[in-house]
Amino acid sequence: MFIFVQFLLVFSQEITWTNYSFAFPQFIPLIANKTVFSRTFEEFGQILNISIEYNGDIIEPICNFDYQSMLFQRQPQTLIALVTDLQQIDIDSLKTEEIQQGFSNELISYAIIDRDLILLEKNGTIHHLFYSDGPKFTNYTTHQLSIILDKNENSQILSDNQSYYYVDSEQFIKFNINNGSLEQINIHSWNKVNGHFKIFIKQEYVYLINSINGMSIYKMQNNILLPFNQFMINDIYKNKNITHFNLVDYSIDNEFLYLLDYENGVSRFNLTSMHMDNNFFIYQKGCNVISIQNNQIILIQQNQILSEIYEGRIVNDSWFMIRKKTVTKQIIRNVQQFDNYALLISNPTNNIYQKNLIENFTDLSLNSGNNFYQMEFLGVIQMDSDLIIGIYKYGVAIYIAQESSAQISCQARLSQQNRVTIRLNSTNCLNKNQEDDFNYCQCRLDYVFDVHGVLMSPYQEDLYIYLCVVAFSIVVALFVAIFFIIRRYQLKKEKIDHLRKSRRTLSY
Ligand SMILES: *[C@@H]1O[C@H](CO)[C@@H](O)[C@H](O)[C@H]1NC(C)=O
Ligand SMILES: *[C@@H]1O[C@H](CO)[C@@H](O)[C@H](O)[C@H]1NC(C)=O
Ligand SMILES: *[C@@H]1O[C@H](CO)[C@@H](O)[C@H](O)[C@H]1NC(C)=O
Ligand SMILES: *[C@@H]1O[C@H](CO)[C@@H](O)[C@H](O)[C@H]1NC(C)=O
Ligand SMILES: *[C@@H]1O[C@H](CO)[C@@H](O)[C@H](O)[C@H]1NC(C)=O
Ligand SMILES: *[C@@H]1O[C@H](CO)[C@@H](O)[C@H](O)[C@H]1NC(C)=O
Ligand SMILES: *[C@@H]1O[C@H](CO)[C@@H](O)[C@H](O)[C@H]1NC(C)=O
Ligand SMILES: *[C@@H]1O[C@H](CO)[C@@H](O)[C@H](O)[C@H]1NC(C)=O
Ligand SMILES: *[C@@H]1O[C@H](CO)[C@@H](O)[C@H](O)[C@H]1NC(C)=O
Ligand SMILES: *[C@@H]1O[C@H](CO)[C@@H](O)[C@H](O)[C@H]1NC(C)=O
Ligand SMILES: *[C@@H]1O[C@H](CO)[C@@H](O)[C@H](O)[C@H]1NC(C)=O
Repeated sequence: MFIFVQFLLVFSQEITWTNYSFAFPQFIPLIANKTVFSRTFEEFGQILNISIEYNGDIIEPICNFDYQSMLFQRQPQTLIALVTDLQQIDIDSLKTEEIQQGFSNELISYAIIDRDLILLEKNGTIHHLFYSDGPKFTNYTTHQLSIILDKNENSQILSDNQSYYYVDSEQFIKFNINNGSLEQINIHSWNKVNGHFKIFIKQEYVYLINSINGMSIYKMQNNILLPFNQFMINDIYKNKNITHFNLVDYSIDNEFLYLLDYENGVSRFNLTSMHMDNNFFIYQKGCNVISIQNNQIILIQQNQILSEIYEGRIVNDSWFMIRKKTVTKQIIRNVQQFDNYALLISNPTNNIYQKNLIENFTDLSLNSGNNFYQMEFLGVIQMDSDLIIGIYKYGVAIYIAQESSAQISCQARLSQQNRVTIRLNSTNCLNKNQEDDFNYCQCRLDYVFDVHGVLMSPYQEDLYIYLCVVAFSIVVALFVAIFFIIRRYQLKKEKIDHLRKSRRTLSY
């Protein structure tokens, strides 16, 4: 097994690259100081590295390149502080001591059904907010759960598609908020759980993932929990010589539940068949956070002075490691993945991490990602493609997260002819006939910029406009003159005709 994994790691270094090149260069006429050529690189995915070469009568570099990026911006005025009387305060502007004094309570868990957000305060208070179009929150109400407070270890709230649940080591409560009031049902068949645990509900089944006891599945029927199945160490690791385990985290992707075991690595469970997938295993010890989205996996390992971030792709029964990044000690609590980025939540500095970058081929400037400072994030929820709710220990805020693609823009100041050759290594190919898990590319694009000077200087331009005005006036004057001449002629002709007529009537 270990040898197989090693093979995969070695193999992962040899991603096949497709070469792609346009057959003909593109001719782009430009006017110096006037026109700008620009294009984006969406179809190339993420650009890892780029080089721009000029040849021709090169006098000055004319192109500017910006790598892709993701911006994560809090919408002004959307921060709502819930666990204090003060509304709309900016947590970032407060000192840590002020925050500690001001907030003796804090939010500890959150859950969402469609657009209804529920937050749990340490003392059992529930905050309900409806996320409406806007983007804003409306219908804010608070409620008090009837719970026994001194027993609440591991308190958390969760939801299925219809109800919310409060769970701690000794209590299991189902609740709904209808028409502004809370309805609570206590589930009495819940047995005391020892040790750290995580829990989720999917299609009437309750999955309890416990560090010591493995995974237990219950069926929820008429508000009673019926034991359904139990997966102990030998069920999780069939035919593997593993004697210790410690389940610390989980992640759901497609129809799979991935279980992170601090002692051994990642195993997975088929949620459709409800069986362990015993062929699958990722050997990676010492990790305590897992995030998987569309087979893209991030594992976090926290060590004494450093934290390691492992990024990989799940392929068949294991993974390819794409990158291992070491950061100085930061407790990364949570990871939220987006298409090409991941938000590593670590207070107070969060990192927007670019995925899919293979270290050896990537511009160093992309490796560090962007840091942004926001106090005490508990987690984030993606609502729409670019709207995100950030949950703090003290309230909520709405963010706009926008991915922008890489872009080049070229503008010349001098008349010249420039052949510009752009070489880039990127995560996507234009010719997608390749059936590779990794569709990385090396591309070459050629442009010939034919830069002409402007036709006239500003003085000449003014003169030209002046002359145009004069010429136009002359033309107008001519038209007016011709009109009057014709009109005068017509009038004369009419007079003569009139005279002729009157003379004729006189003679008869
Ligand atoms: C792309 O990667 C190759 C190695 O495969 C490297 O030689 C080349 O310099 C890279 N090109 C750019 C523009 O980074
Ligand atoms: C919990 O704390 C909030 C203030 O943050 C307070 O309004 C509420 O009454 C408290 N609930 C209990 C049960 O103490
Ligand atoms: C909601 O509550 C109000 C007053 O508390 C009541 O008039 C109304 O009928 C209720 N609506 C529903 C759908 O229960
Ligand atoms: C919540 O607020 C929306 C408007 O934002 C309103 O249409 C809706 O009826 C409200 N729902 C309740 C249960 O009050
Ligand atoms: C919620 O889940 C239940 C049980 O899986 C299912 O029967 C029901 O159709 C679901 N409801 C919605 C609105 O998805
Ligand atoms: C299992 O591994 C332990 C050491 O990790 C070794 O002592 C033992 O012989 C192994 N057992 C089997 C059946 O391979
Ligand atoms: C998971 O289980 C379902 C139902 O038995 C099956 O159709 C599917 O192939 C399984 N997935 C894998 C990857 O084994
Ligand atoms: C993954 O599975 C497919 C189909 O079974 C196979 O063609 C491919 O070689 C496998 N990849 C690896 C890395 O084992
Ligand atoms: C990537 O870099 C590492 C260390 O810098 C080196 O050992 C490894 O051979 C490189 N891999 C490739 C494919 O260039
Ligand atoms: C990026 O491209 C430049 C220019 O081609 C090259 O010198 C550099 O080595 C490349 N960096 C990596 C990491 O491939
Ligand atoms: C463009 O403007 C620069 C000064 O900004 C000037 O030196 C240059 O001559 C101008 N180019 C042309 C073709 O007029």
